Amino acid sequence: MAWRPRRRTAIAVLATIVVLAPIAWFWQRSLVPGDLSPMEMGFADYGGGPATHAHHGQDVGTLTGPSGPADVVVDLVARQERFDIPGRGPMDGITLNHTSPGPEIVAKQGDLVQVTLQNESVPDGITLHWHGVDVPAAEDGVAGVTQDAVQRGQSHVYRFVAKDVGTYWYHSHQVSHEQVKKGLWGVLIVEPTANDVVAAVHTYDKVRTVNGGYGERRVAAPGSTVRVRLINTDNGPWAAWVDGAPYRVVAVDGTEVNAPPEVSNKSVLVTAGGRVDLQVTMPQGSAIRIGLGGGPTTLVIGEGNAPAGAEPRERVDLLSYGKPAQLGFDPAKATRVFRYDIGRRPGFLDGRPGLWWTINGHQYPDVPMFMVTEGDVVRMTIKNTSGQVHPMHLHGHHVVVLSRDGVAATGSPWWTDSLNVEDDESFEVAFVADNPGIWMDHCHNLPHAAQGLVTHLMYSGVTTKFHLGGSASNQPE
Ligand code: C2O
Ligand code: CU
Repeated sequence: MAWRPRRRTAIAVLATIVVLAPIAWFWQRSLVPGDLSPMEMGFADYGGGPATHAHHGQDVGTLTGPSGPADVVVDLVARQERFDIPGRGPMDGITLNHTSPGPEIVAKQGDLVQVTLQNESVPDGITLHWHGVDVPAAEDGVAGVTQDAVQRGQSHVYRFVAKDVGTYWYHSHQVSHEQVKKGLWGVLIVEPTANDVVAAVHTYDKVRTVNGGYGERRVAAPGSTVRVRLINTDNGPWAAWVDGAPYRVVAVDGTEVNAPPEVSNKSVLVTAGGRVDLQVTMPQGSAIRIGLGGGPTTLVIGEGNAPAGAEPRERVDLLSYGKPAQLGFDPAKATRVFRYDIGRRPGFLDGRPGLWWTINGHQYPDVPMFMVTEGDVVRMTIKNTSGQVHPMHLHGHHVVVLSRDGVAATGSPWWTDSLNVEDDESFEVAFVADNPGIWMDHCHNLPHAAQGLVTHLMYSGVTTKFHLGGSASNQPE
């Protein structure tokens, strides 16, 4: 019968459409527009609070640091060039003033810092973000949100007051998953103490370094007190410890710990982007070794032989470390309550099939926009069921940890800007919305951010004229 093959063909075509149409629909839906305003991204989530609309918009570009003469003036020139990793040879990367890490920036509390960033030869354009410093929004350095990427031959001036003492770092926030790895970063210390030792860990081209070198020795007199500033500029967490002396964890992410007790035979976790300051009293007649996540990269302080130890199995738990103190606000009076559920599922991202991160079940760029009003007390539960660890970083604010997996915090207020959220772990954090702007809230495993683990906290009424993609080719992740 003649109709049969034709009917079969029709059924086959129909079946193909039934199977492919939803796939095509998902594929099509996953395409990220080549030119997207961050304000148009995803959907508003008011966290149970009022859907406020400010009467007069405020452009992010107007939320700058103060004018007037600066106390610290730094000029940085970024170049794509070859540089030496001590002990390992040359690598093609990105330098600031011909070095990576870039120059260490040091300020006193209250100083007005002015950094002029010039791009001599980085083809994708660059920015600088002041990781952990709660700068005014226009100074935050996020390409496509707070500024355009600085293209070759251009420059950009950042100005902010170093109002909080502590250990910070800076890095590019344009194509950051590549540029940070390639070397576009540096250390920023506000109010260093006399006996400071910075230990900024960075992996260049599979070579793990501390302060740009393979390991180093610093001097310190026996009996003196040393402050070791641990900085994790990589994408994954590691644990630090001290061989040869007890220590205290005196600061986390730039905030002093209240009444830190002395610990020995314990390590402390430093998550990606995070900083932890240790205080050690130098022993008599021997050196100490700072273990930096196992492996050969360590830092030795003092004279004589340095003890070699393995990573202690026990960890300092910041949830119960130190003594409680005033927070300065009441999290029980929250005006907005958000959830930030991190998951993972198969699908398309910008047309590419894969296993992609989800935020509250949605995929980038169709993710929640956390909407707040200045003065809000905000609570947020960050829950991770994605199968991998995520170092979560909110720009422009520090958050305080209220609980982990339902267990309330009992130690010193645990203020953080880079929080290690393990798989199957859940943290409740709180903060005051006191810094108007549009702020990235993303995973600091930067390839994860590039894979869509990014959303924003947006103050009602704040607008931006910058675009993701677009003619400036802004690509913050
Ligand atoms: Cu250290 Cu959004 O970054
Ligand atoms: Cu992640």
